[in-house]
Amino acid sequence: MDQIKVKVERRNVGYSVFIGGSILSGLSDYLRKNHANKKIVVITDETVSKLYKENFFNKLDAFNPYVIILPFGEKIKTRETKNKIEDTLMEKKYGRDSLIIAIGGGVIGDLAGFVAATFNRGIPIMHIPTTLLAMIDSSIGGKTGVNTRYGKNLIGSVLQPSAVFADLNFLRTLPDEEFLSGLAEVIKIAITSDKELFSIIENDYEKILAKDEGVLLKIIKRSIELKKEVVEKDETESGLRQTLNFGHTIGHALEAHFNYKIKHGFCVSIGIAAELKISALCGILQADEQRIVSLLDKLKLPTKINKDINADKLIGYMVSDKKTLNEKPHFVLIKDIGTIKSEGKNYSFEVDGGIINKAIEMCKND
Ligand SMILES: NC(=O)c1ccc[n+]([C@@H]2O[C@H](COP(=O)([O-])OP(=O)(O)OC[C@H]3O[C@@H](n4cnc5c(N)ncnc54)[C@H](O)[C@@H]3O)[C@@H](O)[C@H]2O)c1
Ligand SMILES: [Zn+2]
Repeated sequence: MDQIKVKVERRNVGYSVFIGGSILSGLSDYLRKNHANKKIVVITDETVSKLYKENFFNKLDAFNPYVIILPFGEKIKTRETKNKIEDTLMEKKYGRDSLIIAIGGGVIGDLAGFVAATFNRGIPIMHIPTTLLAMIDSSIGGKTGVNTRYGKNLIGSVLQPSAVFADLNFLRTLPDEEFLSGLAEVIKIAITSDKELFSIIENDYEKILAKDEGVLLKIIKRSIELKKEVVEKDETESGLRQTLNFGHTIGHALEAHFNYKIKHGFCVSIGIAAELKISALCGILQADEQRIVSLLDKLKLPTKINKDINADKLIGYMVSDKKTLNEKPHFVLIKDIGTIKSEGKNYSFEVDGGIINKAIEMCKND
């Protein structure tokens, strides 16, 4: 079992991320050692609960947890679900001595994390991520939140977990679409900050698609280390954390355009291709564009924008995105694989509308 320690200096808090295959056997020991007197609340979704009833949830029986099983999917990440969970917990007399364990993908992690952040002014949360995206992205860094009809993740808080247990065995049941969607985020972080990780994915892409545990452990561990480095330095996205948004300015616009019916990672994959084109048109990216796009293609991740999509309409979505500064879309610009443009603590840059438009047109399918 590997262990990565995340420290958030500004708040003087730290936590461990345990990674490996079958590491959940260590969970009981961890709970006994660290949360002996806590009343445990498990929050999960119906898919994960059905799949892991026998093999995992029963390991927690000894702790007599109160288990909340929610429907699956983004639609439950709302204030209404949060209210319901809070009411149930208060009715059942759960208080400050409770520990929430979120078992699921990013939806469950974000929602349960936000409940923990405000329940009795804050109770601890542990994450047991069950999707690739949740293992390498959403369970690390402490961002929690819910969606509203005005947009995604608009209401939320930052709460660092007390521990994360990333057990690779969960990936065995993950549908291919979900797996690939998470892989797009791994590639994103490799492009912005680690050439070596990129090469590993490039050389071992067939093993990755076959979910070879050795390679998966290597790339998941490295992705977590990279995200850790970013969030340790910048908990609230004032600087370095902006780099995690590479591929997301256009990715989010595509998600909004498709009314959130297309997986986030697929929109990010197209966003990566289009934002590489922007980096190239700005004269910052010299080589490597083709190398990256061809890796995305090999992994069967989409890289083309549908020709029917109007570029100006897409730019309109970028302008209304909550991360947009002064109504001007900003972009993380790539120099080469592993290196981005930076100026002091600034890592994302305003780009001329003509260039954005041209990049979108150049990335359209025939
Ligand atoms: N907090 C952050 O920093 C952060 C970062 C990135 C994304 N997010 C959020 O994460 C969410 C997306 O997370 P996601 O992609 O994990 O989606 P998700 O939680 O909806 O999970 C995807 C689907 O996979 C199913 N599933 C989960 N684990 C499974 C398993 N082991 N086997 C089979 N099926 C399984 C779920 O039931 C669900 O239907 C979004 O709401 C996004 O905003 C948060
Ligand atoms: Zn993302």
